[in-house]
Amino acid sequence: MPTALRIEGPDDGLAVLVFDAPDSKVNVIGAELVGELAAAIDELERRTDIAGLVLASGKPRNFIAGADLDAIERVTDPAEVQAAVTLVQGLYERWESLPYPTFAAIEGACLGGGTEWALASRYILVADRPELRIGLPEIRLGILPGWGGCTRLPRRIGLAAALDLVLAGKSVNPYKAFKIGLADALMPPASFRHHVRDFARQAMAGKPPVKGRATGARGVLLEKNPLGRKIVFDQAGKQVLASTGGNYPAPLRALEVVRAGLAGGRAAGLAAEARGLSELAVSRESKSLVHVYRLAEGAAKGKASRPLRRAAVLGAGVMGGGIAQLLAAKASVPVRLKDLAPEPLAQGMAHANELFRQQVRRRWITAPQARQKMNLLRPTLDYGGFAAVDLVVEAIVERLDVKQQVFAELSGIVPATAILASNTSSLSIAAIGKDAKHPERVVGMHFFNPVDKMPLVEVVVGPLTAEDVVESIVALCRALGKTPVVVKDGPGFLVNRLLMFSMAEALTLLEEGVSIAALDATMKRWGMPMGPVTLTDEVGLDVASHVADILGAAFGDRLQVPRWLGRMVEDGRLGAKVGRGFYRYAGGQRLDPDPAVYALLGLSPGDETPDPLEVSYRLVTPMLNEAARCLAEGVVADAADLDLAMIMGTGFPPFRGGLCRWADDEGIGSVRARMEDLADRVGPRFAPAQAFVDVVAAGGFYARHPRAKARGTGA
Ligand code: NAI
Repeated sequence: MPTALRIEGPDDGLAVLVFDAPDSKVNVIGAELVGELAAAIDELERRTDIAGLVLASGKPRNFIAGADLDAIERVTDPAEVQAAVTLVQGLYERWESLPYPTFAAIEGACLGGGTEWALASRYILVADRPELRIGLPEIRLGILPGWGGCTRLPRRIGLAAALDLVLAGKSVNPYKAFKIGLADALMPPASFRHHVRDFARQAMAGKPPVKGRATGARGVLLEKNPLGRKIVFDQAGKQVLASTGGNYPAPLRALEVVRAGLAGGRAAGLAAEARGLSELAVSRESKSLVHVYRLAEGAAKGKASRPLRRAAVLGAGVMGGGIAQLLAAKASVPVRLKDLAPEPLAQGMAHANELFRQQVRRRWITAPQARQKMNLLRPTLDYGGFAAVDLVVEAIVERLDVKQQVFAELSGIVPATAILASNTSSLSIAAIGKDAKHPERVVGMHFFNPVDKMPLVEVVVGPLTAEDVVESIVALCRALGKTPVVVKDGPGFLVNRLLMFSMAEALTLLEEGVSIAALDATMKRWGMPMGPVTLTDEVGLDVASHVADILGAAFGDRLQVPRWLGRMVEDGRLGAKVGRGFYRYAGGQRLDPDPAVYALLGLSPGDETPDPLEVSYRLVTPMLNEAARCLAEGVVADAADLDLAMIMGTGFPPFRGGLCRWADDEGIGSVRARMEDLADRVGPRFAPAQAFVDVVAAGGFYARHPRAKARGTGA
C-alpha cells in the first residue's frame, strides 16, 4: 500500500521526511497518517545516521492542510476526541524531542495541525510567496488548536501576537509570519530547497543563521509578569465578547486554554487543549460552522473558468468601479470602464486605485504589480474597444428603460459570443435582455455592496439564458474569489426577497412601539452582523422602499411594509449614505437612533426590553416561509445553496449554520408550532405557507431539498 510519509537520505547527516499523501492534492492528517507518523518517529528516534531533519511536502502548493475534516464532522463522543488528540500531542512531543534539529520547510499552504507540527519543529523556514498562508483557522470551525498550538505559539511569538492569530482563526502571509517571529527565515521560492539545505547545514554546525526570534519583542515586558499577562488576557477577552456577542464558545475556551498553559506549564496547557477541543468538537456551534465551511467549499469547486481575454464594465459608480477593479485584480485582463461623463470615471478609477494601494499596504501585492493591474483599467466615454470584449458587466442606473436601451445598443457592438451581464439588484433579467440580439447570452451577475468585501454573487438565470453562459459566469465568480449561487430570475431574486420580508417585520415592530435601539441590539445578540434598522439605513431607505414596491407588486398582501417608509424618504432620510436615516451620523460615523424619527412617524416607543425569543422568531420565520416558497419554485437549487447565499449575502450567523439549517436544528415541527402561535396572536402573515408545511412533512429543509445532483442552472 502506498504510504504518505517517506524518509529520504540522509545526505551528509541531513535527512528529509516527505509528506505526500497518495491520490490527494493536499496533505491531511487523519487516523491513517497518525499511524504512519508513529512508525516514522519510532524509526527517526532509532537512527544514528541522522544529524538534522527537514519536514517537507511532496505537494507543490500545499504543505499540510490540517486535520481531517470528515473526522471532526462525524465525531459525537468527547472521550473519543480526547483520546485521539492526546495521541497526536504525544507524537508531536516526541518530534520536538528528537535528538537533532528539525526544520519545517513550508513551500505551500500550512494550516491547523500542519502549523502545529511546524511549531513542534526547531526551525520554521518559509518560501516567500505572497499567496502562501500559514495559520490556525480552528476557531472558524468552532474548535481550538489542540495539537499543541495554544501551548507552543505563545512561547514562540509572544502572548499578544499568539492570541491575535488563535482567537480570530487567522492565517498570515510569509512576510507577516516572519515579522511576528513565527517563521525563522523567508527564502526565495525559486531555489527554496537549496536555501533550506544551506540553512540546515549551518544550524547543524551550531551556527543557525537567525538573528533571534521576534518573540515578544513588542510588549515582552508586559507579558513577562503575571499582572501584565492579566492585562493582555482581559483585553483579548473583551475583544472576543465584542466581536462574537458571546455566541461563539471556541475563542473564549481557547483563551482559557492559553491561560492554563502559561500559568500551569506545558503539560497543563496540553491537557487543557485536549479537554477544550473534545468538548467543543461535539458542540452544536462547531457542527454548524463545519457545515458552513462545507457549503463554501462546495461552491468553490467546479469547472475552471473559460479564458476571459478582455472585459468591459458599464457605469463607474459605487458598484461598477469595484467590479472593474476586481476583474483587473483577479482575472488580470484589460477592462474598459465606460461612463457618461469624466467625473464619475475619475472617481471610479480613484476608487480602484485606492483598493490596489490597500493591497500593497497589506503586502498582498507589490507596488509594481499594483501599477500593472491599474494599467489594465482603461476609462472611456465611448464604446471604443468593445468590439473585442468577451464580457460586459453593466452597473448603470437602476432603470429598466435605460438598461434595455443599453443592452440593445451593446448587442450591435460586442462580438456575438460575448456575455452581457447585468448587476441589477431588482429588475428582471428577461426584461433587461428583451431587445438584445442574443438574449441567451444575457445573465445577471448580482454583486453586493461593497464589492471588494462581500463574498456573494447571485448568478441570475433568465428563461432564455444559455447553460454555457451560466457555467462561464459561475466559473468566473470563483476565479474572482467570490461565492456564486445560481438563482432564477424573479422579484428580488433570492437574498433581497428573503431579506425584505424580515425587514418589513422589523419596521412593523417599530410601529408597535419597540425602540430602534432595542430591536437592533436584540438581533445583534442573536448573531446578525448588524440590527435590521441599521441594515435598512445601510441599504438606503430609497433603495429599500424601491425594492419593497417591486416585491409588493409581485406578492401583494403577503408582504406588508408600513406605509410610513415613504415618509422617511420624503423627509430626506435616505440612510447612512446621506448621513441621515433612522440613526444620526457625524463625520461618516453612525451615532445613536434619531429621536426625531419617532416624532416624524408619530411613534412613542416604550422603555421595556422586548422578549428576544419573540423578536427573533418574528424576524426569522417570515424568511422561512419565503425560503420554502423559493425552493418550491426553483428560485434556488437546494437548501444548501440557500443557506450559503444568506450567510454570504446577509451575514446570517454562521454558528447557526444558515437559515434552513437553523430551522432544521431547532426542530422543524416546533418552528411550525411557533409560527402558528404567531399567526394566532400577531397576524395571519405568520401562518405556515403550503411550501413550508411540505418541508415540515418531509422532516426539514435538508430532507425536502437535499443537494441537487446537477449543480447547473438552479432553475
Ligand atoms: P451609481 O449611481 O453609483 O453608479 C451608476 C453609474 O452609471 C453612474 O456613474 C452613472 O453616470 C453611470 N451611467 C448611467 N447611465 C449610463 C450609461 N448609459 N452608460 C454608462 N454609464 C452610465 O449606482 P450603483 O449604486 O453603482 O448601482 C449600479 C447598479 O448596480 C444598479 O443597477 C444597482 O441596482 C446595482 N446594485 C447596486 C448596489 C448598491 O448597493 N449600490 C448593490 C447591488 C447592485
